[in-house]
Amino acid sequence: MAKADASKLDWNNLGFEYMDLPYRFTAHWKDGKWQDAGLTEDATLHISEASPVLHYGQAAFEGMKAYRTPDNHIQLFRPDRNAARLRNSCERLLMPVFPEDKFVDAVKEVVKANADFVPPYGNGATMYLRPLIIGTGGVIGVHAAPEYIFTIFAMPVGNYFKGGLTPVNFTTSQYDRAAHKGTGQAKVGGNYAASLLPGEKAHDNGYADCVYLDPVEHRYIEEVGSANFFGITKDNVFKTPKSPSILPSITKYSLLYLAEHNLGLGVSEEKIDVHDLDQFAEAGACGTAAVISPIGGLEHDGNLHTFYSETEVGPVTKKLYDTLTGIQFGTVEAPEGWVQTVE
Ligand code: PLP
Ligand code: COI
Repeated sequence: MAKADASKLDWNNLGFEYMDLPYRFTAHWKDGKWQDAGLTEDATLHISEASPVLHYGQAAFEGMKAYRTPDNHIQLFRPDRNAARLRNSCERLLMPVFPEDKFVDAVKEVVKANADFVPPYGNGATMYLRPLIIGTGGVIGVHAAPEYIFTIFAMPVGNYFKGGLTPVNFTTSQYDRAAHKGTGQAKVGGNYAASLLPGEKAHDNGYADCVYLDPVEHRYIEEVGSANFFGITKDNVFKTPKSPSILPSITKYSLLYLAEHNLGLGVSEEKIDVHDLDQFAEAGACGTAAVISPIGGLEHDGNLHTFYSETEVGPVTKKLYDTLTGIQFGTVEAPEGWVQTVE
């Protein structure tokens, strides 16, 4: 694949696609320690055919973004939270932890080295960063790998869901994403492999993605395959599902804080019954890639439940979006410690 050329990119029409940028960070775990850490131009990983990542899915990743501010600085949003979540994911899959402070430094190194690819301020485009750790080395029994590769690569991106701030429709899934005591809280590759077929069925039926229900009763909303779910009740409470099998979304916890402290809404993490959607005036999907994507309608058992509108973002969702993205792009004051400047 040809290296990307920043001078040829159309910043206003970026999708969510892989690009091979000049630099990525890699480190190798060998003989019980991290070594050979630093930037490299090589976008290809060379690994054993018997690597546990290939057979047994020993892989964890993160998703985070770098934002260009109106005064041309570049900043990160809560990167310490991504470092902490990757630690949890690694512990769940018996992988060595890349030290959290070094993780944040490495992210900054990648952003600086590829700074030409951080989109200009103004149209919501950002640099997406993908930290990834995989189990390598030759193993054929079901065991943790003897070696690991940690890498962070990056690319400029636009909207994840095509609508941006225009609502999209979702459908509930007949499939489960994760079990209550499984790996749903960890950001591990297997959860996403399991979501490919349900996601494709949802797309084939004209939906942006599916919303999973709880794996026990198939009654309570879990999350979207690539984002968390929230609803704004008719009496202005920001509600989001509580479940042991969903990803602890950094965006969701940020919105819970901002809804309460900046917008003065009530907030609640609780079980949300798919038969009780009438309580919501607005609903959305939230995440690093998704940012906030308003949900126009949610199909369940053949019925499409519509929220605020299938064409217009609701007023509370819009306020949350403006507050969150304002903080991320440096135009709204951030709560203490949420933003770190790269350059
Ligand atoms: N849920 C899933 C399954 C995800 O893949 C993501 C994306 O990271 C999220 C939720 C949102 O998490 P965050 O806000 O930390 O990006
Ligand atoms: C993210 O929002 O960073 C994600 O990881 C979602 C996705 C692209 C899988």
